[in-house]
Amino acid sequence: MILTCLILLYYEAVITQHTIQQILSRIDIIDIVGSFVKLKKRGTNYLGLCPFHNEKTPSFTVSPAKEIYKCFGCGKSGNSISFLMEHEKYSYVEALKWLAARYNVEVEETEVSPAVKELQQTADSLYIINSFAQKFFSDNLWNNEEGRDIGLSYLHERGFQEDIIQKFQIGYCSRDWNAFATAATTAQYNPEYLLKTGLVVLRDEKLTDNYRGRIIFPVHNQTGKIIGFGARIIGKNDRAPKYINTPENEIYVKSRILYGSYFARQAIDKADECLLVEGYTDVVSLHQAGIENVVASGGTSLTPDQLRLIKKYTNNLTIIYDGDAAGIKAALRGLDLALEEGLNVQLVLIPDKEDPDSYVRKTGAAAFREFIEGNKKDIVLFQLEVSLKDAGNDLNKKSAIVNRIAETISRLNKAEDFTKQQDYIRQCAALLSIDEEGLNALVNKFIRERIAKQENKAAASEEKNKEEASADTASQENEDILDLISKDELVERNMTRALLEFGNYSWDEQQNVARHIFFELDHYGLQELIDNKQLLHIIDTYRKWVDEGITPTPKSFLYHEDMAISTVAVGLMDTRYELSQNWKEHYDGPMPTREELYKEEVASTLTYLKIRKIKRLIIENQRDLEQADSPEDQLNLLQTHQHLKQMEIELIRDYGTVIYK
Ligand code: CTP
Ligand code: MN
Repeated sequence: MILTCLILLYYEAVITQHTIQQILSRIDIIDIVGSFVKLKKRGTNYLGLCPFHNEKTPSFTVSPAKEIYKCFGCGKSGNSISFLMEHEKYSYVEALKWLAARYNVEVEETEVSPAVKELQQTADSLYIINSFAQKFFSDNLWNNEEGRDIGLSYLHERGFQEDIIQKFQIGYCSRDWNAFATAATTAQYNPEYLLKTGLVVLRDEKLTDNYRGRIIFPVHNQTGKIIGFGARIIGKNDRAPKYINTPENEIYVKSRILYGSYFARQAIDKADECLLVEGYTDVVSLHQAGIENVVASGGTSLTPDQLRLIKKYTNNLTIIYDGDAAGIKAALRGLDLALEEGLNVQLVLIPDKEDPDSYVRKTGAAAFREFIEGNKKDIVLFQLEVSLKDAGNDLNKKSAIVNRIAETISRLNKAEDFTKQQDYIRQCAALLSIDEEGLNALVNKFIRERIAKQENKAAASEEKNKEEASADTASQENEDILDLISKDELVERNMTRALLEFGNYSWDEQQNVARHIFFELDHYGLQELIDNKQLLHIIDTYRKWVDEGITPTPKSFLYHEDMAISTVAVGLMDTRYELSQNWKEHYDGPMPTREELYKEEVASTLTYLKIRKIKRLIIENQRDLEQADSPEDQLNLLQTHQHLKQMEIELIRDYGTVIYK
């Protein structure tokens, strides 16, 4: 994780805080959103057709006062920066640069820090060593007796031609214990870096070759530099792994690697399609057959970074896997992600226990191409067919499938995917023999839910697991629990929002609202009751700023660089407020504004948290009571119980009179 962050830094320039502040002070959300969406003024807000979903009547609202946008159709909301990131697919830094250009702010970038500088130097050293190693191993393969007898003849036997071996810079590492290590140290390469590349390992405190007796496949990055190697054993050996791969280091980050992408770029562009296979040899073989728009994932399911890389070149991904169960599973695992990225994903299964490498050899290039063209299956429909076959007549399983497919289809939620989404709904409803409208409604439900959940990204992945686990046992009980959780969550959100909005307002003569909230949280141990990690993150960030003598405002959070924070903040500021019935019953006269009622609001959320704390104490006390043996203990615990109950009643009475829901 740290490594990935560092690598991001390595590639992304760092914009100074001064520049960011200048940009933020000039942001005009109407101008920014307005340059992509036609907006009309309606009262204090502006209204337009939502760019994130397909609609005929405008429900996309931009508020210049709050500096946020929100669509009442699909629920998407955010600020100027997140708009650019969503709509234009910019990174945070790219969005800032776009804004800087628009508002004539000169961008100052910080000097790279010593840590980054060191990282760059390490990376450069690793590239140099890898390049040296590649030449060494290639030379071995072509010019060394063992290399030719064992390595090259193995490759020939498998049918790899010399031009293709050279193109992919394939090599051979001799069976000698330290032929490479000796060459590398003689050439003055630093042992520490040599170890990092994974080309050598320490054995009895000596540098020893790690890939002895193996065929070496160099792995290139997009610009053709060698970032690592895959080393294949020759022949079969049950005691050694088939491949040894480079360990993660400053330049080899597995989740971002697509083997062959350097050689495939242009072909992918031309064909407007990327073929995805599992292995090194599949890529090399297909190239030999003249099929060059192909990359390999290394046999695992696709990561978001890999999908994004593909998306840079094309929207059409064709996964070509063996027909075995493991391969299919791996392919389906990346499916939702791929759909979310807006990729058209097709699947081709290679029959008869073959893989693309062996199959293209068997059938020849032309027949292989024909086979791919004739056997592409849309992956969503494929998934549905497989699971329907599996479910048979089991109604529970079938309803789980309906949910699952609706969720999958809901991932296609970009405006440009709308037609595709409707097509899927039609086709899947037909396959399932269910009502099209019903499926449509279910898909919409998932879209709404996910947008709500995006505010809480960390919790989202947990939720998904929970959902999957309980998909077919969902019962009234679960619904009730969900209701409860969301009520707690609502209060947590209200408290955090009150902190953001009114933190600087005065509470009494001694302190402001923020200090009062922190005092109560600490004094009554309330913070531990807050389950939502994103909210906790906001609260802790607020505390940290206060400790550093900074006075945070809602803007500090709305435009926070950490998207997790700014997304939650936008969601918080956007919550609509309703006065409860209590107000109307107890008070006459004009409705007060929230500004006027901030103290009540703060007090009421804190009271609610206290009630939750008491409830928890009551449950713990009851547990102790069940286990208490002596009459004295029991009596004591009973008294505690009554005491707690009394406190609960009082708190609930307090809470009942407050005027916010
Ligand atoms: N793989 C790996 N480590 C292993 C086995 C496999 O990293 N022990 C990865 C490699 O990237 C490999 C891919 O998974 O290319 C697919 O594995 P497999 O189909 O077994 O290998 P092939 O590349 O097809 O090799 P070959 O054709 O020589 O059997
Ligand atoms: Mn193979």
